[in-house]
Amino acid sequence: MFEVKTTAVASKAETYRELAAQLGGLLTDETNGLANAANTAALLYAGLGDVNWAGFYFMRGGELVLGPFQGKVACVRLQLGRGVCGSAAEKRTTLVVPDVEKFPGHVACDHASRSEIVVPLVKEGKLIGVLDVDSPSRARFDAKDALGLETLADIFLLHSDLSHLAD
Ligand code: SME
Repeated sequence: MFEVKTTAVASKAETYRELAAQLGGLLTDETNGLANAANTAALLYAGLGDVNWAGFYFMRGGELVLGPFQGKVACVRLQLGRGVCGSAAEKRTTLVVPDVEKFPGHVACDHASRSEIVVPLVKEGKLIGVLDVDSPSRARFDAKDALGLETLADIFLLHSDLSHLAD
């Protein structure tokens, strides 16, 4: 059985190195985008520490639609250019938000969330969706998380056929 290693005492660099190795192993020989998104969300939720939501939104018909995730039930549809996810998607750049209450237009799905990071998913120049992680602690995420999660998003994109999840 696949075991998620706990990373409580590891540095962020070590944590992301370990998660990258585990994700590469998990997704080897599997291209199903839905299965890979589900396992990626589960790995991040269990392995990152101090997070209350981890998952995906995929582009459908010009908006972001909820994909596989771990955490409390979430908003299903998000508009491009609005909230943290929609802004990261529109700008195609990772957004690190130390205090979601200070982010104009933040969409509060889980009221326990205090900080958030959103990584846009871009494959061959096309916006596919976003990877979103929330924390109940303020300032949980920084540039190291941005780099680490962008690497993990690249591994996910490399292995996954997302043609049925995004248009
Ligand atoms: N907070 C996000 C919405 C998605 S949930 O956090 C899962 C936003 O402002 O776009």
